[in-house]
Amino acid sequence: MARLNLSLEQRAVLGVALIHLLVLPMVGGLLLVVAQETLTSSFVQRVRTVARGVADAIEIPSVLDDAKQTGNLLDSVILTGEGVYAELLDNGRRTVSALNRPTVAYTGVQDLHFFEHSASAYFIVLPINTPGHSAEVRLAFDKRATLDNIARIRWNSVKVLLAYAALSLALTVAFVRHLTRPLARLRLSARQVASGDYERRLSADTGIPEVRDLAADLETMRCELVGVTAKLRAEMAERQKVEAQRQALEMELRRRQRLETIGRLAGGVAHEINNSLVPILVFAQVVFDALPADSPSREHVTGILRSARRSKEVIKKMLTFSRQLDLGKLELLHLSEPVDEVVRLFSTLAPPGITVAKRIEAGCPPIMADATLINLLMMNLCTNALQAMHSTGGALTVTLSRRAVPDSGSGEELRGAYLDLGIRDTGHGMDAATAERIFEPFFTTREPGEGTGLGLAVVHGIAESLGAVVLVDSSPGAGTEFKVLFPIP
Ligand SMILES: Nc1ncnc2c1ncn2[C@@H]1O[C@H](COP(=O)(O)OP(=O)(O)OP(=O)(O)O)[C@@H](O)[C@H]1O
Ligand SMILES: [Mg+2]
Repeated sequence: MARLNLSLEQRAVLGVALIHLLVLPMVGGLLLVVAQETLTSSFVQRVRTVARGVADAIEIPSVLDDAKQTGNLLDSVILTGEGVYAELLDNGRRTVSALNRPTVAYTGVQDLHFFEHSASAYFIVLPINTPGHSAEVRLAFDKRATLDNIARIRWNSVKVLLAYAALSLALTVAFVRHLTRPLARLRLSARQVASGDYERRLSADTGIPEVRDLAADLETMRCELVGVTAKLRAEMAERQKVEAQRQALEMELRRRQRLETIGRLAGGVAHEINNSLVPILVFAQVVFDALPADSPSREHVTGILRSARRSKEVIKKMLTFSRQLDLGKLELLHLSEPVDEVVRLFSTLAPPGITVAKRIEAGCPPIMADATLINLLMMNLCTNALQAMHSTGGALTVTLSRRAVPDSGSGEELRGAYLDLGIRDTGHGMDAATAERIFEPFFTTREPGEGTGLGLAVVHGIAESLGAVVLVDSSPGAGTEFKVLFPIP
């Protein structure tokens, strides 16, 4: 059988309506029977008493012989108000009251109960026991007033019972609402919890202990579930973090492997070329010296020497990158000095429209480094910065500060105290694809012949040999900041 999907309120109303439908007709019927019985028996008793009185008066011996007296007695029945017919039959002689209602006539039968025979009149026939007379008196009384009363009581009962039923239903609705209001509030709170508001408390401000207990149980359940959800969320976040770290490390490893392979190859090639360049430079110089001062060939040999020296510069950079350059002896070095020097140099070199500034934090500790390498590293970074601001102008700022990278810092290799050398420019910046490749040897975005693409490869090589890390932060149009983090010994 299909289940009725009704609310508590609807069910209560339906239940009360059904009960009233069964009970009220029975109660109404019972009341009506009692009222009817009372009214009819009172009527019968009353009219019989009147009839008996008249019969007793007629039985007095002289009365039957006096037509006037008998007529008066019959009239007195009608004059009671309820009488509608009065007749005396004496030795075959019929006397009727002049006041009889014309529409009523004796039917030949008398009534024993109220609802017998005629619908409007109640007939009583009483014998008159007087010697020498065979007589009987026939009287009728109006039933309509009693019937009207019964009908009025019936209608009033229906009205009262209907009003009672309506009042009961209204009270039921009010009571059920009073009962279900805390439940509705509880349900609302539960829905809010289900839709993500996990901190919403589940409580019921009610005097009904069952509902209060239910709310308390649900609240306990919510607390437990919220705890579980928070734990699961934290676990998921932790897993995502670990996965992101793993991916970053994997990318870094691949980048390093690539750089290492290229570095090794570049180192080998550079070494070979360097070996060939030395005799070229020496013999070209010998030829140059041997030529007379006005020889037109001197210019050609100068060209050879210039190209060979430039190639030697490139080779030097390649060797630095691939760490085949003699790193010299590392010593404790305060970076403020090379920073001063480079800033002074670039202030002179910078074209108008570009300002060069420095910010050195007081008390920066020394690091293990080599002054020439640090110079080379800063020269490359500052040259790039000037080139990035070449057409627009801007500001180059070199900073030096102490920095502590906490344990939960940006990656495994960065942890502890560092000296932070920052080179910031307000130039054209880089997109992500460029920034990804800048440390690759020979990667350049400059016009052919303008850049070797080895500057940052050298920076990377130097930083790595000193145990430092290079970080870059750049976006198109927003300038670039390089940070070299040297470990503080
Ligand atoms: N400060 C900077 N702002 C914008 N782009 C930069 C910056 N520094 C480096 N780059 C980009 O990184 C590329 C590689 O730089 P890198 O110094 O290695 O080579 P290069 O400057 O092109 O050539 P070289 O240094 O040999 O003259 C550059 O071509 C440029 O696109
Ligand atoms: Mg460069």
